[in-house]
Amino acid sequence: MKILLIGGTGTIGSVVANRLKDDYELVIVGHSSGQLQTDITDPNAIESLFKNVGNVDAVVVTSGSAPMKPIDELTNDDFLEGIKSKMMGQINVALTALDYLNEGGSITLTTGILSHDPIPQGSVLSTINNAVNGFVIGSYGEFLQHGIRINAVSPALVEDSAEALGEYFPGHTPAKMEHVVNGYEKSLGTYITGQIIDID
Ligand SMILES: NC(=O)c1ccc[n+]([C@@H]2O[C@H](COP(=O)([O-])OP(=O)(O)OC[C@H]3O[C@@H](n4cnc5c(N)ncnc54)[C@H](OP(=O)(O)O)[C@@H]3O)[C@@H](O)[C@H]2O)c1
Repeated sequence: MKILLIGGTGTIGSVVANRLKDDYELVIVGHSSGQLQTDITDPNAIESLFKNVGNVDAVVVTSGSAPMKPIDELTNDDFLEGIKSKMMGQINVALTALDYLNEGGSITLTTGILSHDPIPQGSVLSTINNAVNGFVIGSYGEFLQHGIRINAVSPALVEDSAEALGEYFPGHTPAKMEHVVNGYEKSLGTYITGQIIDID
């Protein structure tokens, strides 16, 4: 099985890549690192990536960001930044993947715990995570008509980010990396679709 892993050089993606590398043929994509590069904020760059790689059996995205700011400092541009990256970046990957996934293929996106368990300064991420979850729920039936499954893994703050980000997540218990990767394996290896796979 050939898997396109966008964000495969990051904190979560590199651990996912490490788990999957022995069992699957991986194409690891970063922004400036990885075997190949793309920019998920640019639909043309996504299309070029797929043209370059050709057909695959699964697409996993562990990429996409959004700014964190107090509510009284948030601007329209802050929301647009998150929409362009974590929301439309991932959604455009999924839409483009329709033309390049083999029958029975799957798409796995990444959202996060802030969809339902908020933190201070996390309004944009909470909004975007719910938007991407909404896309998965809203679109899975139509993807199924094309023989494609789609899910999102929604991790808590992951343990490998706890040192850097833990102060932003008061009272949160970091998720074990092993459990986070299990979420991606579940999406890849089972027949579930339209699911938000919470990893707390
Ligand atoms: N870390 C957490 O605790 C946590 C918890 C819940 C959800 N999440 C979500 O999980 C996802 C990954 O988080 P992470 O902490 O692993 O992020 P990360 O360490 O910053 O890694 C991001 C990955 O995406 C790539 N990338 C960055 N900008 C890109 C772009 N414009 N186009 C294509 N690829 C791009 C990076 O490549 P380069 O290295 O080449 O720049 C890297 O491979 C994010 O959506 C995040 O919100 C994270």
